[in-house]
Amino acid sequence: MSVVPYKDRENSKREQVAEMFDNISPKYDFLNHLLSGGIDIYWRKKAIKLLKKAKPRNILDIATGTGDFAIEALALNPEKIIGVDISEGMLAVGRQKIQKLGKQDIIELRQGDSESLPFADNYFDAIIVSFGVRNFENLLAGLTDMQRVMRPGGTCVVVEFSKPKAFPFKQVYNFYFKYILPTVGKIVSKDRSAYTYLPESVQAFPDGNDFLTIFEKAGFTNTKCIPLTFGICSIYLGHK
Ligand SMILES: C[S@@+](CC[C@H](N)C(=O)[O-])C[C@H]1O[C@@H](n2cnc3c(N)ncnc32)[C@H](O)[C@@H]1O
Repeated sequence: MSVVPYKDRENSKREQVAEMFDNISPKYDFLNHLLSGGIDIYWRKKAIKLLKKAKPRNILDIATGTGDFAIEALALNPEKIIGVDISEGMLAVGRQKIQKLGKQDIIELRQGDSESLPFADNYFDAIIVSFGVRNFENLLAGLTDMQRVMRPGGTCVVVEFSKPKAFPFKQVYNFYFKYILPTVGKIVSKDRSAYTYLPESVQAFPDGNDFLTIFEKAGFTNTKCIPLTFGICSIYLGHK
């Protein structure tokens, strides 16, 4: 049984996740930076730097949300970045940010599901996704479709929360994730479940080598895991 935001409902994880992100979209950016102490910005920057050498010209940002990873990818000077997400509310916030930056010619945000991407095979030079894969209804199906639309020679960069294993980081992190984050998240976002779902979904997510096994099953090769910040977050790299 997969972890879902609203446990008393019968509808699919995909529908619940889209509804949850629609609900919290006006407060998402604020809460993201507040609850992570701004370190999420550093994690995305670090991940994008790993693509510098590859110089990708067209990039697909999966689960783009309010577009922060797509905006960070502007540092690579690509011709085009397409962001897809299932939550129209998140995309609306993202479009406003991109408009403000005057980057709407380069970044285009579209509604789309990672499990059935509306793109041709072997199309993108790079696929990026930050804090998205944990929310997929079917992780293997999502990763497999990402691999399908990436061209041979391309690079995929996944950023996702992981579970720190060493004392005392594990204990401090568990306390923060279990007690502080859900309380602050609930008060600010007004969504009763979103910030309880966050730690629960991180707990249930196959991180580290378990993720690499599924990543390879989806067809990615030469995979690698780079743990960041005591293992709170990890970057996964895959090729084709
Ligand atoms: C935690 S947010 C991450 C947003 C952004 N990438 C960031 O780094 O801030 C997760 C996003 O994944 C999206 N999402 C979840 N499942 C998805 C799917 N199957 N296809 C596309 N987007 C999905 C959600 O709607 C949400 O906007």
